[in-house]
Amino acid sequence: MSYKRVTLSQFLMEGQHRYHGSGTFTSLLTDIRTTCKMISHEVNRGAMAGNLGVAGTENVQGEQQKKLDVLANEIFLHMTAQSGNYAAMASEELEDVHTVHGAHGRYLLLFDPLDGSSNIDINIAVGSIFSILRIPDGVTGTPEEVFLQPGVEQVAAGYAIYGSSTMLVLTTGHGVNGFTLDQNIGVFVLTHPNMRIPEDASEFAINTSRMRFWEPPVKRYIDECLAGTEGPRGKDFNMRWVAAMVAEVHRILCRGGVFMYPVDERNAKQGGKLRLMYEANPMSFIVEQAGGMAITGRDRILEVEPTALHQRVGVILGSKNEVERIRRYHEEHDAAGGKPLA
Ligand code: AHG
Ligand code: MN
Ligand code: MN
Repeated sequence: MSYKRVTLSQFLMEGQHRYHGSGTFTSLLTDIRTTCKMISHEVNRGAMAGNLGVAGTENVQGEQQKKLDVLANEIFLHMTAQSGNYAAMASEELEDVHTVHGAHGRYLLLFDPLDGSSNIDINIAVGSIFSILRIPDGVTGTPEEVFLQPGVEQVAAGYAIYGSSTMLVLTTGHGVNGFTLDQNIGVFVLTHPNMRIPEDASEFAINTSRMRFWEPPVKRYIDECLAGTEGPRGKDFNMRWVAAMVAEVHRILCRGGVFMYPVDERNAKQGGKLRLMYEANPMSFIVEQAGGMAITGRDRILEVEPTALHQRVGVILGSKNEVERIRRYHEEHDAAGGKPLA
């Protein structure tokens, strides 16, 4: 075994010298690194620690909370409040902004503490997603409006995946790097430097049980994939659905493909299924930094102007040429007089 390994701390220190100087990023990400290790530990202990099953409560989205949703949320809030780097946080599991009294930092943390909750009880991959914003100069306090910045304003974003290995994947706007947790020494090690999404792919991920609610451009794209070598694409496609966005994005970063949770007839009233601030924006930042593309169907996700903290949005992301094709199908549909659902 080689000991010539780069740890996450060493990587952040090196980045500090190269780009940022002040050390702010190093401490912002140090809090999150510890948080993810603790959540990983709880996910791993599973039934032994009584961590499976429902909590018996509902979150602000009207969803049943699992025990691990609640626990992961508490770990995030507690561990990232200590250092005072974050003036306030917003979580998928909390109705309102959580202000950190006495914080000195001017950063905001947004997170989905446990993504893919329906996988917890069946021992399939889950994850955590986070996004970091800066409080604009001249702004005092941390009302909800300060959080309502488009995704292009993110200063860092990342996710942890608790899968066959625990990994932390992050961007500070200079590419995407992946670190694997060495469980024996409790350290994240750089294993996936400069992750890049192939521009072409022949693998898609979408919940096909919702096919009858899809918009025509989405149906057109999937129909063409399914037609394989006999269809207009002239090649066979493969399909995956893990039901955890973290795992889908991770697969796409490793070998390309497309992930879609589009606006459809069933979810159009609420704007889609996935949450803009906790899921779509951080993942779109990562995907773009790795050379991929992320759209709502018609627009670039990172340019969507948020109007509410818990806003939902259509998500189509992954290999550039496939996502561009899907965007074009939406454009052609609208040009022919088709009406967008949302
Ligand atoms: P969460 O567990 O944070 O609520 O997110 C689950 C999301 C996303 O990660 C996943 O892609 C999708 O919901 C799964 O949806 P289906 O239930 O339609 O499979
Ligand atoms: Mn989620
Ligand atoms: Mn969640």
